[in-house]
Amino acid sequence: MSKPRVFITRLILDSGLQLVQDFCETEIWSGELPPNRDELLRSITGMDGLLCLLTDRIDAEVMEAAGSGIKVISNCAVGVDNVDVPAATARGIPVGNTPGVLTDATADMTFALLLAAARRVVEGERHVRSGSWKTWSMDSLLGADFTGATLGLVGFGRIGRAVARRATGFGMRIIYYDPNPAAPEPGLEAAQVEFDTLLSESDFVSLHTPLTNETRGLMNASAFAKMKPTSVLVNTSRGLVVDQSALYEALKSHCIFAAALDVTTPEPLPTDSPLLTLENCIIVPHIASASWQTRQKMSRMAAENLIAGLKGERLPNCVNPEVYVLPLINPKNMK
Ligand code: DGY
Repeated sequence: MSKPRVFITRLILDSGLQLVQDFCETEIWSGELPPNRDELLRSITGMDGLLCLLTDRIDAEVMEAAGSGIKVISNCAVGVDNVDVPAATARGIPVGNTPGVLTDATADMTFALLLAAARRVVEGERHVRSGSWKTWSMDSLLGADFTGATLGLVGFGRIGRAVARRATGFGMRIIYYDPNPAAPEPGLEAAQVEFDTLLSESDFVSLHTPLTNETRGLMNASAFAKMKPTSVLVNTSRGLVVDQSALYEALKSHCIFAAALDVTTPEPLPTDSPLLTLENCIIVPHIASASWQTRQKMSRMAAENLIAGLKGERLPNCVNPEVYVLPLINPKNMK
C-alpha cells in the first residue's frame, strides 16, 4: 500500500521527523526561509497532510490548493492564529497543536525577560561592551525589585500559571485578568481582577493570552496610560496583542519603565523599527520555547498529530474537535 504524502514546511527536530518519515512519503521545504505563498500553494497540492510552523499562513486558499484529499493540518506550535481554524473545520480537517510541552520553557523565558528588563541586564551589557562603564556608582543602572512587587498576568492558562508559580518563589503578589479562567489551582495564591485594576496595580505586566479578536491591540495607548511609570511589560504571547506604536510612545515618554518582547509585529522586526532605538526595550527573536528538550517534544507532538490524522484517528491534541461531531458545512457558503 502506498504511503500517505505530506508536506512539511520547515525542518522539525529528529524526534518528530523520524516518526513522520517512517509513516509517510515526505516532502520537506529545505529553504532557510519559509516557503513563500506560491511555493506553499504549489507544494501542498495533492498532499494528504500538512505539518506547518507558526510562520506559515494556512488559510482557505491553501486548503483549497491541497485538494479534497487533505486529512490533517498539524501546527508545530501551541498558538494557531496562523491557521484559519474555522475554514479547516468547515472542510472537516482536524487541526493539531502542541500544548503543554512548552509551558515551562515559556514561563522560564518570561522570567528571564522580566528580570532582564527590570534589572537592565541588556543595557548594562551594552554599557560594558561600548566602554562607557567608567566606575561603580550608587545610582547607575538602577532597576526594580521583585520581592513584594505585584505581578499582573493577562491570561491565566497553563503558561500564566507556570509564571505565577515562579513568581511565588520570588515573594511576589500575583493578580490576573482572564475572562475565562480555568479552575483555581490549589496552593497557588492569585487574585482575579478586572483588566484596569491589573494595569493600575501591577509593577510587572506579563501577557499570556492567545491572539483573538478580543486581545488584538489589547495593550494600547489607553492601557499604557493606566500603568505605573515604574512598571515593566513582558510579551511572550503574540506580537499583535501589543500596539507597538503606542508601546514606543509609552517607553519613550517614560509612561512605563521598560518592556521586553519575545514576539513582535512583524517577525522579524525590521532593523529600522523605532523600538530598537530605545535603551529600555529588550527584543528577542521569538525564542520562548527554544530549549532542546522542548523543541524535541513539540516536534514529536506535531508528528503524532499528523500521523493520527492520516490514519483517520482522533488527533491527540486537536483545536477543532467539532470536526468529529459536526456535519460538514459547504465552505463555499461561508462568509
Ligand atoms: C507557540 O508554540 O505558539 C510559541 O509561540 C512557540 O514558541
